[in-house]
Amino acid sequence: MSRKTLNEIAVQDCRVLVRVDFNVPLRGGDVADDTRIRAAIPTIRHLLDSGARVILMSHLGRPKGERRLEMSLAPVAADLGGLLGCDVPLAPDCVGNDVAALVSELEPGRALLLENLRFHREETANEPAFARALAAWADIYVNDAFGTAHRAHASTAGVPNLVTEKVAGFLLEKEIHFLGDLMTSPKTPFVALLGGAKVSGKLEVIENLLPRISSLLIGGAMMFTFWRARGFATGSSLIEQDLIGVARKLLERAEELGKEILVPSDCIATRDLEAAAPGSVVAEEGMQALDTGVDIGTETRRRFADKIGAAQTIFWNGPMGVFEKKPYAGGTLAMAEAIASATERGSVSVVGGGDSVAAVRQMGLVDRISHVSTGGGAALEFLEGKTLPGIAALES
Ligand code: 3PG
Repeated sequence: MSRKTLNEIAVQDCRVLVRVDFNVPLRGGDVADDTRIRAAIPTIRHLLDSGARVILMSHLGRPKGERRLEMSLAPVAADLGGLLGCDVPLAPDCVGNDVAALVSELEPGRALLLENLRFHREETANEPAFARALAAWADIYVNDAFGTAHRAHASTAGVPNLVTEKVAGFLLEKEIHFLGDLMTSPKTPFVALLGGAKVSGKLEVIENLLPRISSLLIGGAMMFTFWRARGFATGSSLIEQDLIGVARKLLERAEELGKEILVPSDCIATRDLEAAAPGSVVAEEGMQALDTGVDIGTETRRRFADKIGAAQTIFWNGPMGVFEKKPYAGGTLAMAEAIASATERGSVSVVGGGDSVAAVRQMGLVDRISHVSTGGGAALEFLEGKTLPGIAALES
């Protein structure tokens, strides 16, 4: 299977239909975080500078086939225009006669943004007639929407089957390069740091990564399911009762494979999570009935930071605690700093998933990480070893 990239094709004067992931957070009618828009700029800039007629398409939110004003891509068009330093008009829709007129008038070196694809329920249904209507805009199809590559929708899976010339954009290639290397050729020691609330959401990633990693560090509320698997009390902490056995099996499997799973030896526990009352350090054998674990403890932070410091390759997904409440953000912030420092000493670091990305961004550490993925669900499915429809559709 081979996949062409943008540098291999001539685009001058061509109508290039680009699937981007501009599913960005909005606040008060403006773009609150334009990371995903910025991430697509190298592809868009290359196409514009090469004299292509660029037609951009994206979804925003989940309007479920309804035309909902608050999910219009208008704020995105404004933000994108600012980043590119030129006007990017927003089409009134993504298919239909008005769009046809705008596409036919589009000059080389200019871009047009189509309105939210998901205003049509045919997008998520990958309806053939809708895919054909979108494909009609394209001489060339480019997919640069890594964040949506796990969806088999009309714009990601239907259109590329209808356009002869289809290529991956620079962002998609970069994501595949960094995440793919984790799977195929990571330099060792390879340390994976996984957090978040639930083991259930990470099970397939853990199973797929376990043979590839040297150490797996477990944080977030899912640590408490592992504590129970090891026979410790967890007080009022969040646990997944039905996954205690699974956690026990994972610990056994790691031992068979000669891999290390590091479960925290202490946590920060509070008696009033709602009020974000300051917590105290509690060791694994010391949890009382009213204690709720909200972060990894101080000894755990040291042990994890040592492992991260000695790693050549690091993957991080999921916060270490209730990161959105400031008193419980310490573990997550300490891990972000440890990963940034290791990267400066030459390790390759990849961060994927909403909350860990938010932590890295909040601390201003993005430039000190090798790769911060723009995909949440897509990055996890990639690391579960699944074939992503948006990528598969580019292969011929
Ligand atoms: C995302 O934000 O994860 C992607 O844009 C996909 O969005 P979806 O989960 O609504 O398909």
